[in-house]
Amino acid sequence: MNEPASTGIRTVSHDLPESPEFASFMARDWAPTPLPDGIRLPAADLTPARRARLSARFPGERLIVPAGELRVRSNDCDYRFRPHSAYAWLTGLTGEDQAGHVLVLEPDGPGGHEAVLHLRPRSPRTDNGFYRDRRYGEFWVGRRADLAEAERTTGVRCVPLTGLPPGRNAAEDHELATVLSELRLIKDPWEVGQLQLAVDHTTAGFEDVVRALPRALAHPRGERWIEGVFGLRARTEGNGTGYETIAASGAHACVLHWIRNDGPLDARELLLLDAGVETDSLYTADITRTLPLSGRFSPVQRQVYELVLAAQDAGIAALRPGARFRDFHRAAMRVIAEGLADWGVLKNADGEFHRRYTLCSSGHMLGIDLHDCAQARAETYLDGELAEGQVLTVEPGLYLQPDDETLPRELRGIGVRIEDDLVITADGARLMSGALPRTPDGVEEWMGTLLAG
Ligand code: GLY
Ligand code: MN
Ligand code: MN
Repeated sequence: MNEPASTGIRTVSHDLPESPEFASFMARDWAPTPLPDGIRLPAADLTPARRARLSARFPGERLIVPAGELRVRSNDCDYRFRPHSAYAWLTGLTGEDQAGHVLVLEPDGPGGHEAVLHLRPRSPRTDNGFYRDRRYGEFWVGRRADLAEAERTTGVRCVPLTGLPPGRNAAEDHELATVLSELRLIKDPWEVGQLQLAVDHTTAGFEDVVRALPRALAHPRGERWIEGVFGLRARTEGNGTGYETIAASGAHACVLHWIRNDGPLDARELLLLDAGVETDSLYTADITRTLPLSGRFSPVQRQVYELVLAAQDAGIAALRPGARFRDFHRAAMRVIAEGLADWGVLKNADGEFHRRYTLCSSGHMLGIDLHDCAQARAETYLDGELAEGQVLTVEPGLYLQPDDETLPRELRGIGVRIEDDLVITADGARLMSGALPRTPDGVEEWMGTLLAG
């Protein structure tokens, strides 16, 4: 018999029936499996200060930060779960087992809050859910921490998950999301270390891709081969890719977020690879390199590449505490506009006509989310000033569409983006992704070495 829906156990119509004898056999003779003492989440010592900053912004208010719920992919299959970034930042909990869990900050005395985690208890072995429930049964999805274990790993009081009163208010939810985004704008040194780890694994993934180019070039869907090679690195070194990999050959690079990745590679073309490893702590890198698939840039490819590189250099030079976020974008776009005017594509560098060839902005905050802190107000982000500890990308590009009749024929169908990750320091910015060459000569030499090895 299948479970009636009221038990909350997820079974399906083709599950085999079970006899009472089998059920009672399954309920006995299991040894305890305590987690070893002393396991503590890497971020557990940092989360109290993060929660205190949030608490100070909402005195006397009950704050509810859910990890989020599983989403059905099809029938009884769910998408892989990743907890909400704010929940991960406030609790240090980053695992797939966090689905449905909720952090509550309960008002606690004048101005303060007590953090309480509402967690799904373990599947008791006396209840057949542990082997029958496809969604949460531990035989299906793995062991969870019990409440005492979770208290030890997080340092937060834990209670069993029962229906929390929703009490939602859209305006208050929006305000909470905004404050959480803004609190996350400046990374602490541990977070910068995690982002550096993400960048270092991503560097290794780009090297894997170059080594795999001969196989990828021979495959009818070479873009997929590239995506797969990078994905192997991302999944084995970290939690996976921080976003869908863009592996764009030739004119596909003119599609800003080309993630279909179903094309072949042509050795006469460029490959735009935009990819990032997400660490187990959920911090992601976001790096783009545009590579000549033959190992050598053609003169026209080099011409486009060098203009984008000059724009990126100008953007990076504009990064320092106190500079406005918009400044580095403006600096990069000025170089692009002047370059297009020099080529005769634009009559002059004035106005915004250059945007036809570049379109997206030149960077964004980076952290637990790819487009991190996206709920922050304009006055603290887009119109705000850069500050030490912020991590961002600088990623100008030129996307010269294959059907753009304003362009000379030889430029059509070339797309170049160069994207690096930087942390703002006391007097400028540190390039975190400098292990990957950016200059055309540097890229050719790096590819040559990897392909020869
Ligand atoms: N891949 C998305 C971005 O660079 O922002
Ligand atoms: Mn980016
Ligand atoms: Mn990117």
